[in-house]
Amino acid sequence: MSTNTPLDGATPATASSGSSGGGTAVASAPAPREEYNANEYIVRVRNVKRVYYIGENPVHALRGISLDVKRGEFMAIMGPSGSGKSTLFNMVGGLDKPTEGTVFIDEVDIAQLDAGELAWLRCRKIGYIFQTFNLIPVMTALENVTLPMIFAGASLDEQMERGRKLLDMVGLAHRMYNKPGQLSGGQQQRVAIARALANDPSIILADEPTGNLDQKVGEEIIQMLKRLNKESGVTIITATHDDKMYKRSDRVSIVIDGEIQAVVPPDELGDNTVDGFLANLKEQKDQQEAAKLAGNTASI
Ligand SMILES: Nc1ncnc2c1ncn2[C@@H]1O[C@H](COP(=O)(O)OP(=O)(O)OP(=O)(O)O)[C@@H](O)[C@H]1O
Ligand SMILES: [Mg+2]
Repeated sequence: MSTNTPLDGATPATASSGSSGGGTAVASAPAPREEYNANEYIVRVRNVKRVYYIGENPVHALRGISLDVKRGEFMAIMGPSGSGKSTLFNMVGGLDKPTEGTVFIDEVDIAQLDAGELAWLRCRKIGYIFQTFNLIPVMTALENVTLPMIFAGASLDEQMERGRKLLDMVGLAHRMYNKPGQLSGGQQQRVAIARALANDPSIILADEPTGNLDQKVGEEIIQMLKRLNKESGVTIITATHDDKMYKRSDRVSIVIDGEIQAVVPPDELGDNTVDGFLANLKEQKDQQEAAKLAGNTASI
């Protein structure tokens, strides 16, 4: 689908750092040093911290997150409310800057981009989908979908052709002249998916895309995202509380209190809730500690 070329004029990062791309990764474990393949990862987040201030009081929303997302991967981010999922999305999507740490998109450190380059990245490389759809109410579905194309400089003919095609793809060709208020929640989210695809992005960031939808409509949206991921190879990173969503993902990152606790394939999470998974993880750690302690005691 996309060419994924690094941004013109931006400085690529040196491709030498270690990576914990696959399998289970417990945050406290030392990062394994392994041969690093620059082309494999489309997003690399390195030790990202974000501190907000409410008056003089700091809120540590992200406490040093490192995460690699493979090109073409479907990654689910799960964690309790307030754990930092949306903050992480804002960092990866270039909507906000880390207090500390680095985000690489296609090996480009996005903090090094000037305003024009950052706008290019946000417009062309990344498509955004939000829980509350965030469509512009006074515009038709078609106008909402073509808006990002205007920013990207597409001709009117291109806008119309691609806008219609995208709305057709999400099953809304017959509703393209309706405004969001005339559409159901599921239909609005489908318009938002079409809009996210307007400029053929390499990455879709979907923050709780099924959060405001009932189960059946949520399932349709998940299927649509999964199909896009498989057929056009777009990388999808989604924050979700939805069981059905994480079960379809390639890997699940569990974020608790601004830290990644684990990155696991969904079958490792099984039918456990995130809480259940964390309780198991804690039990394993406690058992290891107890065994270590018993070993130490025996050797005295
Ligand atoms: N602009 C802000 N100013 C101060 N604190 C903020 C701000 N934005 C977020 N926070 C705080 O940062 C922490 C992480 O918030 P974030 O929105 O990333 O959580 P979340 O995991 O997306 O939660 P939810 O599942 O409810 O969407 C929370 O404690 C939140 O209150
Ligand atoms: Mg959120």
